Amino acid sequence: MNQDHDTRVYVVCCQKGGVGKTTTTNNLAAIDAKVFPPQISQRLLDRIQALSAQPGGMDVVSHVAATRLLALCTGKDKLLDCPPAVLNDLRTTIGPLSRPSIAGVEEDAVHAALVAMLQEVEPQVLAISTDPQKSLLEWLTRVEKTRLREGRPMPMDYAQEDKNPHVLGKLKQMRRYRRIWVDSPGWLPGEDEENKKAILGKSLESADMAIVVIEPEDLAFTPTKQTINDVIKPAGIPFLVVINNWDPRDGEGDLNDTLTRCHKQGWPVAKTTVRRYKMHTSAPAAGLLCTSYKPNRKTSEAVQDYTELNLEITAGR
Ligand SMILES: Nc1ncnc2c1ncn2[C@@H]1O[C@H](COP(=O)(O)OP(=O)(O)OP(=O)(O)O)[C@@H](O)[C@H]1O
Ligand SMILES: [Mg+2]
Repeated sequence: MNQDHDTRVYVVCCQKGGVGKTTTTNNLAAIDAKVFPPQISQRLLDRIQALSAQPGGMDVVSHVAATRLLALCTGKDKLLDCPPAVLNDLRTTIGPLSRPSIAGVEEDAVHAALVAMLQEVEPQVLAISTDPQKSLLEWLTRVEKTRLREGRPMPMDYAQEDKNPHVLGKLKQMRRYRRIWVDSPGWLPGEDEENKKAILGKSLESADMAIVVIEPEDLAFTPTKQTINDVIKPAGIPFLVVINNWDPRDGEGDLNDTLTRCHKQGWPVAKTTVRRYKMHTSAPAAGLLCTSYKPNRKTSEAVQDYTELNLEITAGR
């Protein structure tokens, strides 16, 4: 993989629990994985080429699986969606599509071959949970299982890292990833507070930006202010406040109050407000990320919030 790039690290945080840190982290990482889709490892490419060079060429099952895999990794869910140039690339990589027919191929066998190959796909995006509660891990494990069943590659790698804070300070050196999204724990005053602050402080050492999640409600303000003043400002890291979970049916009163209070503090606030949608709440149980929602008008609005927010964040830093 080409590692001639800057690895960007974004840390999503707020000491108030349940404001949407994990939801924001996973969905922003999923949008990033559309921009930087998983790549096929050189080892896998070599294996595919070796298989197709064998006498008689690649067996039909491997051939179909490899073709589908290459299509998936170029960001297309179906081979037929691939532009002709990509299809030509695929043909030269895995040999001519010379088999008379693939109609008789057992779907199960293709799936098994595809799953084996999926293990060697290299995501360019990493999501890390630093929260001992491990909700990011639980959610993404479910996403991975769902996608494996569907024969689709996991769009990003994920990891749990709440025990070795020193690792968190070095995330920027993990050159194999283009983008790293870090989910942080919330905390209550006096409740394992020092440890959680230390975890966040360490993550911030390698961060390009902190994303501070707030809900448009009065009680969210003080803990947000404490997080910014006690942990983020001392780290000297640029930050952006993101208003999450706004329900437009409640009107703009609370949203405008929150905006006014943030502006009075001089905090930078994202132009994109993430609206509340039931599909976001249901996604972890369904093993879904926002990029896999069934397309319709409502889902496209819901995904649009994360797409625009991602662009705002990554264009800024
Ligand atoms: N924009 C949204 N629309 C709908 N539901 C949301 C949205 N954002 C978050 N939620 C829901 O709110 C709840 C809390 O979200 P989440 O777990 O992401 O918060 P958190 O800040 O990570 O919590 P904790 O501090 O416990 O780690 C979850 O049920 C989640 O699905
Ligand atoms: Mg969380």
